[in-house]
Amino acid sequence: MKEIWVINGPNLNMLGIREPLIYGHETLKDLEDKLVKNKNVKLKFLQSNHEGTLIDWLQEAYIKKIDGIIFNPAAYTHTSIAIADAVRAISPLPVIEVHLSKIDEREDYRKVSYVKEYCYKQIFGKGLAVYQEALDLLLLL
Ligand code: DQA
Repeated sequence: MKEIWVINGPNLNMLGIREPLIYGHETLKDLEDKLVKNKNVKLKFLQSNHEGTLIDWLQEAYIKKIDGIIFNPAAYTHTSIAIADAVRAISPLPVIEVHLSKIDEREDYRKVSYVKEYCYKQIFGKGLAVYQEALDLLLLL
């Protein structure tokens, strides 16, 4: 059975509370409850507000030979060369970049993703459904 890690970055622990008009009313726990219904895969859910912790997990996933990562780097998407380097370093481990919101229709600074180039795919703008879409894709690889 494949093992996939779902890694969420800063402020995503605030889902459900944080700007519901943009991110919806569902929580990170709701996301986990939805995804665990996929019985054909072993999932691990991780969330941190800290850049270095996210990098440690990306490296750990590589060392442990995890099959794929669904990664929402949140604001670090638009700022962190260190996280982009980490995604690059663990290639060819497939990482799918996800975002709940339509990052292409928001502030200009959200249109830049430092990780995109090193990810297998970028999926955004469909709320929590982006995680399921990423999972379906990783299970096909
Ligand atoms: C986000 C989009 C980012 O721009 C923002 O900083 C987030 C969440 C999203 O899922 O839509 O924290 O990654």
